[in-house]
Amino acid sequence: MEADKEEIRARNDIVEVIGSVVQLQRRGRNWVGLCPFHQEKTPSFNVDPVTQTFKCFGCDASGDVFTFVQRHENMTFVEAAEYLARRAGLEFRSKFTSPKERSQREALYEANAVAATYFRRCLEHAPAAREYLHGRRLLPETIERFQIGYAPDDWRGLAAYLTGRKIDLGIAVAAGLLYQREGGRHVDAFRNRIMFPIHDEQMRIVGFGGRAMGDEPPKYLNTGETPVFLKSRLLYALPFARRAIADQGRTLLMEGYMDVIAAHQNGFENAVASLGTAFTAEHARRLARLAPAAVVVYDADTAGIKAALRAATELEQQSVAVRIVRLPAGEDPDSLVRDGHPERLARAIADAVTRVEMELDLAIASADTETEHGRQALLRKIIAILATVPTRVERDAYIEKVWHLHPLSIHGPGVAKQQLHRDAEDAAHRRARPTVASRQPFQRGRPADAAAGPGDTSDGLSESAGTDLRPTPRSRVQAAELLIVRALAIPPHRSIVVRLVHPDDLLDPGDRALLEFVLARPDLVTADEAELVRRLRAECLPEVAESAVRRLQESQIALTNEPIDEAVLQDAIRIVRSRRAETVSAEISRLLRSKPELTADDRERVQALHALLARLKGSGS
Ligand code: UTP
Ligand code: MN
Repeated sequence: MEADKEEIRARNDIVEVIGSVVQLQRRGRNWVGLCPFHQEKTPSFNVDPVTQTFKCFGCDASGDVFTFVQRHENMTFVEAAEYLARRAGLEFRSKFTSPKERSQREALYEANAVAATYFRRCLEHAPAAREYLHGRRLLPETIERFQIGYAPDDWRGLAAYLTGRKIDLGIAVAAGLLYQREGGRHVDAFRNRIMFPIHDEQMRIVGFGGRAMGDEPPKYLNTGETPVFLKSRLLYALPFARRAIADQGRTLLMEGYMDVIAAHQNGFENAVASLGTAFTAEHARRLARLAPAAVVVYDADTAGIKAALRAATELEQQSVAVRIVRLPAGEDPDSLVRDGHPERLARAIADAVTRVEMELDLAIASADTETEHGRQALLRKIIAILATVPTRVERDAYIEKVWHLHPLSIHGPGVAKQQLHRDAEDAAHRRARPTVASRQPFQRGRPADAAAGPGDTSDGLSESAGTDLRPTPRSRVQAAELLIVRALAIPPHRSIVVRLVHPDDLLDPGDRALLEFVLARPDLVTADEAELVRRLRAECLPEVAESAVRRLQESQIALTNEPIDEAVLQDAIRIVRSRRAETVSAEISRLLRSKPELTADDRERVQALHALLARLKGSGS
């Protein structure tokens, strides 16, 4: 891989790579432009052709050509390497595929690419198909961008075209483009259909969705599984959307090809779709890597709602903050934006609800509240749903909406709410493997999760009720981090944290966001917690604000009534810093081991890491 990496680097001049997405002007030995990683009016983004590196003096972004592509395209290192290899016309050698598999995959991509060209040519000569797309309000530039084509009503058209282009028909069969009839004759798999090419993350065409122009079933005919077309992983339009997903910090997840295309055409460029199959954990992992939040926009029918809840659950399991859009009955995203009404979709997105809200509403709407039996069934359902809510604070908000459905509500809201809390907590504990949530998450000198030893009589249920319903016990580092968050909420302690802790020392994204926010606003040093929360909500992206607020709430619940002792706080800071120091040391040894001879850049990096290590091990900032 190392040799490959250097070869890829040598063939991708950083000025060219960056110059294709950022306008650069020569200044002395360097090139400068407006930084793509933060908002600015005067250029502070520098590209150095000699060292082949970039650096922004405004936001401190810096790195080499790989780092640039990783950040700009929101890719992992391997993805960026593959992208740059392809850009330079190099074959990308992955450790994971044999040369034989690779050549078969390459052949499948090629067959698909040639087929896509054929379908696009056919569209030019098919007025009825063009009329169909026009009727569906697709603009020519959209058709061009998504490379939409048309498979004519012909059994031999594609087979003949592929033969003319020297494509092995056996490969075309394996790609799902042709069938082989008995007797050996090859015939086209898609006939009289609008063809939507499906791209993988490297923009290679891996399959097609073909829509019938009329009512002949099936409405959509899709490529079956092939070695390059894995429906449980692919998301339609992902390579077109990844930039907008990164910029906006969230993905719009839809059901259909047309929905996604209409969304993009109307400015929602962060839209993707799963391919007519269930949304899988694999899909959720992909999206979790691209953005911290997602909005699910499925059809309003029963199947759509069920699928949306399932997708939301998968996403929540990957810690993505999810909301679900409730569309008016009979509408889908495509119909909603049709005739130039993007604001209708925008409003629906703004009104999206959480999964729990949606589940509660559905349970209530479908309940039979006329009979005692029906009312009890509803109550059980509500409790089961509330049990999936991880924190007491969030659960409070939901209980506010449903307490009146509890039989005890005749005695007033207080009793009913309390009972619902207890029931939900019991149900949650039954769901999770029983663990002891420690009331004091951080204890000096010994790990918090060892705090409740055999001698501890607390059953972890009644005493700690509401402290932490998540099944994972806290590690010492997590407990220390939670204490630091609590300290950030309280002005006199806040200044200590601000002085001694760097956002990168913290593990939880919410904690990092919180600290960054406070660091960037010196006027907040004396603000109380309510003011801090208000400012977070007013000045951050909602998802970012909520992740920070959630951690503040968690720390409050876990550490309530425990005044913070400064020595204990100092200990917590030492713990998170030494955790980070371990990571940094590991990175240093990895760098030193990675090659026989370090470049000047590497040496600079090692020096910087040593400086960082000194800070982390020292007692100052
Ligand atoms: P829908 O039936 O909701 O269609 O299927 P749609 O997206 O609104 O399409 P238009 O607007 O009528 O053209 C949603 C998605 O489910 C898959 C496709 O991926 C489709 O985009 N699907 C649907 C199939 O794979 N096969 C089908 O027969 C129908
Ligand atoms: Mn539709």
